Amino acid sequence: MTREFEIGVRAKARCDLMGAAPFSEADDMLVRRFLTSAHKAALDTLKFWMEEAGMSVRLDAAGNLVGRYEGETPNAPALLIGSHIDSVRNGGRYDGALGVMLAIDVVEAFHRQGRRLSFAIEAIAFGDEEGSRFPASMACSRAVAGTVDPKVMEMTDAEGTSLAQAFAAFGLDPTRLTEAARRPDEIFAFLEAHIEQGPVLEAEGLALGVVSAIAAQKRLMVRFKGQAGHAGTTPMGLRKDPGPAAAEAVLALERVCREGPLAGTDGLVGTVGRMTALPGAFNVIPGAVEFSMDIRAETSATRDAAVAAITAEIEAIAARRGLTVSVSLMQALAESPCDAGLTDLLSEAVADLGGPVRRLPSGAGHDAMVIADLCPTAMLFIRCEGGISHNPAEAVTDADCALAARAMVGFVERLATRNAFSKTPE
Ligand code: GLV
Ligand code: MN
Ligand code: MN
Repeated sequence: MTREFEIGVRAKARCDLMGAAPFSEADDMLVRRFLTSAHKAALDTLKFWMEEAGMSVRLDAAGNLVGRYEGETPNAPALLIGSHIDSVRNGGRYDGALGVMLAIDVVEAFHRQGRRLSFAIEAIAFGDEEGSRFPASMACSRAVAGTVDPKVMEMTDAEGTSLAQAFAAFGLDPTRLTEAARRPDEIFAFLEAHIEQGPVLEAEGLALGVVSAIAAQKRLMVRFKGQAGHAGTTPMGLRKDPGPAAAEAVLALERVCREGPLAGTDGLVGTVGRMTALPGAFNVIPGAVEFSMDIRAETSATRDAAVAAITAEIEAIAARRGLTVSVSLMQALAESPCDAGLTDLLSEAVADLGGPVRRLPSGAGHDAMVIADLCPTAMLFIRCEGGISHNPAEAVTDADCALAARAMVGFVERLATRNAFSKTPE
């Protein structure tokens, strides 16, 4: 007799378990970055859970953990379900991880009934969605989608370790990254469940939402360069200080996104999340200041117009202050509509549980937007308390997680009984 488990509730409990060391790199916060010992500890435990759920498990060439639950016939095309297992620094326990744990619960629900479907199900824990260790995110899902540029191996983390070195230290061969690519005839659809990371569902009293599309985003690094000098001896008028220039630039970004002609268009948002003065001392005028820019909108056109307007302001600030500046694009992701047929199916599964179906766009980036290059995608959102995410205060309820798991099972069952879209296997 296998012990009973409450589908979805266990998924949440597993995220809670993984909220601390050894699944976190730090004792006082959750930080689980790609190819760290915390990532390794998470994969070892996930492998055990996936096997217990009836899956055969492998680590792919990009560092994604993939569990496969066979269908009625071997080698059938698979429905891929999952999300990412990495976290931001001082992150919450559910961003990404909940989607991985729910995928395992869903598979286990079928396994415990001894049910095989006309297709296989694969559960996946993507290794790096956040980009919290290396500057570009989603290299792992890109590898699965077959869109990764092997040059990502040259990226370095804050300690100067290249992605290639980190791969080798983890026991992965950096020259084989592209072998993680899947073919569209192997994977016919992708389902990702994720906390909403925003306040809409809670405000409307809804546990679940169905994602219509994921917003476009760009990540850029700006570097103002001036002249390092003594903080006590250099008169204010004779400085080439990039600090105030960076401050002006941040305000320019806020103005463009908040007050300019583009403000309010397509959900435009802009964020400076990281800033570093170099060399970084009380008594040194910085020689350079670097900061990140994250610009998002529901359309690439609005995002790009905002990036162009902010870049023009940054260049004007540098010229006025006699500084040099570079603005480097680190990552661009186009907006990604979810598949209409799969979204309808997911909506029906949500409706079956009672209550209205709320469709909403995602301002947050997700692996689904990259996997959309491989196959049709659908995304389920789960209400989170106060809409708070990328914060240790992230919270979800057992009841909402249980509903999410049931909606996912309902989606899989509908997919199995209906030819919902052109790529459903015969
Ligand atoms: C991921 O959380 C992102 O939206 O940047
Ligand atoms: Mn995140
Ligand atoms: Mn996420």
